[in-house]
Amino acid sequence: MLTSFNIYHVLALYLSYVASLSSTQNSKLKAVNLGNWLVVEGWMKLSLFDGIPNKDLLDGTKVQFKSIKLQRYLAAEKGGGSVVVINRTSPSAWETFRLWRINENSYNFRVSNKQFVGLSRLGTNRIVAMRDAPGVNETFWIVRKDGEPNRVRIQASNGLFLQAKSDTEVLTADYGGSGWDDGNPSVFNMTILSHLSGSLVLTVTR
Ligand SMILES: *[C@@H]1O[C@H](CO)[C@@H](O)[C@H](O)[C@H]1NC(C)=O
Ligand SMILES: *[C@@H]1O[C@H](CO)[C@@H](O)[C@H](O)[C@H]1NC(C)=O
Ligand SMILES: *[C@@H]1O[C@H](CO)[C@@H](O)[C@H](O)[C@H]1NC(C)=O
Repeated sequence: MLTSFNIYHVLALYLSYVASLSSTQNSKLKAVNLGNWLVVEGWMKLSLFDGIPNKDLLDGTKVQFKSIKLQRYLAAEKGGGSVVVINRTSPSAWETFRLWRINENSYNFRVSNKQFVGLSRLGTNRIVAMRDAPGVNETFWIVRKDGEPNRVRIQASNGLFLQAKSDTEVLTADYGGSGWDDGNPSVFNMTILSHLSGSLVLTVTR
């Protein structure tokens, strides 16, 4: 019979093994160990994560945004260092944003070249992916629709919402309206690619 002492002993050994791997390997290895991590993640979710609001948007979660009106994905042009465009029909690396969670509603978005998405400093209300470190202008609020949590609107630091005006224009933060209609240029369909959180997992295992 496996006593609870044994279970925790095995778990502790396992976690110290994982922690030693984590300290010697880069973060990619953690993704390779996905099967093992799911065991840990499942255990942690039960005991630790249930009370967290927006627990599907933990630190490190990868997301994609599709304008419902235009049926196009947001993309960091060139993977970063440039503007954010709205003209992609199928998502890949440039269309994927990694969340840095500030709190349950506010986030930074990191693009594949590691820059952060932000409001242009030029006062144009354009959204660019050009900053190496996040600041006020790189902070966004994700507003989810009640009962349809993947239908989102995104507010920028100027208080206005991101809008997809046309697929030949860059993304801007200049929509002051409200509503959740399919035709609303500020409404996006958010796809969550992974729920795993490298930094939270590390915090627990260290
Ligand atoms: C998307 O828009 C950018 C900027 O206007 C342009 O450089 C790029 O070629 C466009 N890509 C597609 C797939 O239309
Ligand atoms: C934020 O962007 C505004 C223009 O949109 C600019 O005036 C301001 O200096 C920026 N703030 C920082 C800290 O970069
Ligand atoms: C949103 O995307 C999901 C797939 O991620 C899809 O099943 C759903 O139909 C989309 N919703 C809208 C309104 O486009």
